[in-house]
Amino acid sequence: MPASPTEPAPLDSAATVQRLMDQYTEIARLAGGLAHEIKNPLSTIRLNMELLAEDLGEPETPAARRAIKRVDVVRRECARLQSLLDDFLNFAKVRRLQLEPTDLNHQIEDVLEFFAPEAAEAGIEIVRYLDPELPSVLLDREAFRQALLNLVINARQAMPEGGQLVVRTAAERGMAVVYLIDTGCGMDDRTATRMFEAFFSTKPGGSGLGLPTTQKIIEAHGGRIGVQSEAGHGTQFTIELPVPPRLPGE
Ligand SMILES: Nc1ncnc2c1ncn2[C@@H]1O[C@H](COP(=O)(O)OP(=O)(O)OP(=O)(O)O)[C@@H](O)[C@H]1O
Ligand SMILES: [Mg+2]
Repeated sequence: MPASPTEPAPLDSAATVQRLMDQYTEIARLAGGLAHEIKNPLSTIRLNMELLAEDLGEPETPAARRAIKRVDVVRRECARLQSLLDDFLNFAKVRRLQLEPTDLNHQIEDVLEFFAPEAAEAGIEIVRYLDPELPSVLLDREAFRQALLNLVINARQAMPEGGQLVVRTAAERGMAVVYLIDTGCGMDDRTATRMFEAFFSTKPGGSGLGLPTTQKIIEAHGGRIGVQSEAGHGTQFTIELPVPPRLPGE
């Protein structure tokens, strides 16, 4: 039956999707602009607090000691807000991907090498099973590095007493797949349903933008990210990336 002109367009019509996308882009742009505007006065406040701390020097009276403590609180909060704004700007940034044919194993090795000293200090053993036959994929290397780092950092934070991080790659169902499996604290049901929400975090001082940023990057590559987690046992993240068709002569 043809829709009457007074009926609202079906929710999934292309025009509605486009309108929502435009609104989203506008809101992201405004929020990004706002975050940027806040950053400058914030760094002025922080700098002035540092100068004030210098002026106060070694406190000799109880009142001076209290003043130093208060200045320290403001400095710490400024630093926290600055890093939150940086994370937010990184998340909201809409940028065109620079896709290049890339050896995924090589990219992973790169990130793991960077992470190795931190892992060693935290008592985390990294185990690699990288498939040497893995086909190359189209990657924005910088964005992908950021996506993977967020996952590796989460894994470290989930294993405060140390543990194991298994990193496996495989070619499956025409996709290049990366598995990251940690033996950390795992997630309860509430965390498992909300982890990809912007600003959802269970960590003191966490901005809750790591996973949404990672998801956005993977999806911008035409890929998908999935999770399986068991509270008290560990978590497995799965990244699937499309494998481009081989060009003749390759
Ligand atoms: N490997 C993991 N094991 C257990 N819980 C995890 C893991 N990765 C993510 N989580 C849960 O998902 C939440 C959201 O993660 P996300 O990376 O988005 O934010 P965050 O780590 O809290 O803060 P940040 O913005 O600094 O990354 C975490 O607070 C944590 O509860
Ligand atoms: Mg995180």
